[in-house]
Amino acid sequence: MRVAVAGSSGFVGSALVAGLESAGHEVVRLVRHAPAAANEARWDPEQGVVPLARLTDVEAVVHLGGVNVGSHRWTRRFKRQLHHSRIRSTTVLASALTGLSVRPRVFVCASAMGYYGPDRGRELLDEESGPGDGFLAGLCQDWEHAAQPARAADIAVCHPRFGLVIGPGGGALKPLLPLFRLGLGGHFGNGEQFWSPVSLHDTVRALRFLVEQHGCVGPYNVTAPEPVSNGEFSRVLAAELHRPRLLPVPGFALQIAIGQASSELLGSLRVVPTRLSEAGFEFEHPEVRAIIRSAL
Ligand SMILES: NC(=O)c1ccc[n+]([C@@H]2O[C@H](COP(=O)([O-])OP(=O)(O)OC[C@H]3O[C@@H](n4cnc5c(N)ncnc54)[C@H](OP(=O)(O)O)[C@@H]3O)[C@@H](O)[C@H]2O)c1
Repeated sequence: MRVAVAGSSGFVGSALVAGLESAGHEVVRLVRHAPAAANEARWDPEQGVVPLARLTDVEAVVHLGGVNVGSHRWTRRFKRQLHHSRIRSTTVLASALTGLSVRPRVFVCASAMGYYGPDRGRELLDEESGPGDGFLAGLCQDWEHAAQPARAADIAVCHPRFGLVIGPGGGALKPLLPLFRLGLGGHFGNGEQFWSPVSLHDTVRALRFLVEQHGCVGPYNVTAPEPVSNGEFSRVLAAELHRPRLLPVPGFALQIAIGQASSELLGSLRVVPTRLSEAGFEFEHPEVRAIIRSAL
């Protein structure tokens, strides 16, 4: 199958390209720089440029692009960039796909469990749960809505709502590992808040599932089936690194260090992948120890 991937240089995107290619798919990488390899085609979301000629016979398009959420303090300006980079690029790509004489069967466009808000306590959240409040929830709703042109053109649009993706070399574990390796890591706040991690390996498998299975459409939580408390996550991480787990990191310290983004770490989201499971997807790393081991 021919698959186009935007945002392919990122943490998830580079693993997805490798996963698709090793499964025998032909990948066209939509890149924002001058193409440097035969499988790259330049697009420019700001200028609304999409290389339609390179998308001939593409059966699936995956869009993972957007300014990295953890790369900066959440100033007003940065929040505008987070929002704009996702909504603009999704609108441009979804609209361009409708101009192809043969349209792709499926458009998989990233979203996030932030859809459910910053803090839902112990509530079990599946795809039937309503959106939450706050910046990320609003961003995710606008992001999913931005794919509307593709939906209107009868392309099956899937929104993987990623949890905390845990894998080697990046993602949610990257800022935590140095602290824990030094034996300085502890849980955040009271440690009772739910975290909903997923291994990078299962994230790539889930994206391939959405691309390869006919009939997938709508939102899919991409989180392992067993969410854990932050305290349990920290305990397992420290144990796997053979380090003591030290004092908790207080909420105010996180607030000072990373600003509003800290609410994402202190809030509780207990998200489960009901629709992926119902569709027959099986996680190879369903629980926290396997997820952490897959990354270390
Ligand atoms: N990792 C997680 O735990 C997690 C959790 C929830 C949601 N997500 C979402 O899933 C997607 C993939 O995550 P990731 O961890 O792979 O992110 P990432 O490492 O930050 O990669 C995102 C990619 O987006 C592209 N990009 C950067 N700025 C852009 C802009 N202004 N306009 C369009 N594209 C831009 C870049 O690829 P190119 O330079 O190749 O274009 C970049 O490599 C992201 O949208 C992220 O918000 C991730």
